[in-house]
Amino acid sequence: MAWQPGKRDMIFIAVVAAVILTLALGSHERKTKAVPNDAQHQQATSREACMQCHGVDGVKPQPMRHTQADQCFQCHAQPDGWQGK
Ligand code: HEC
Ligand code: HEC
Repeated sequence: MAWQPGKRDMIFIAVVAAVILTLALGSHERKTKAVPNDAQHQQATSREACMQCHGVDGVKPQPMRHTQADQCFQCHAQPDGWQGK
């Protein structure tokens, strides 16, 4: 005889689906604005290069209270065609 999902099975499936959905949405929110796909961003391959423009005296400083972390691409998606390794 074919397996018929009972009420408990349906609840279990609903809970699993909710957990997966939460994780999927949560990991999406962890990324912030992507790095633009332009030549100046594709050619910036070190934190120092990024900070020449995004340091306090740069053309587009990081916002106040921005993290001091140096792995920019952990949070800002790497541009397509990035020249670094
Ligand atoms: C030559 C200067 C320059 C360098 C080098 C540079 N940026 Fe930028 N960046 C800009 C300017 C100007 C803007 C704002 C205009 C734009 O969106 O292109 C910007 C915008 C951004 C933004 C915001 C995009 C948005 O949607 O608002 C992020 C994030 C960013 N840069 C990250 C980086 C990272 C990471 C690096 C190093 C890999 C880097 N930038 C290197 C000039 C630079
Ligand atoms: C721990 C995560 C994290 C790391 C690492 C990180 N950033 Fe950010 N950055 C953010 C968040 C969050 C914002 C707020 C942007 C928003 O409003 O979505 C931001 C905003 C910015 C902005 C301003 C974007 C705008 O349009 O105003 C720039 C420029 C920027 N970051 C550059 C950098 C650079 C350069 C590095 C590496 C030295 C870096 N970030 C590393 C999380 C991070």
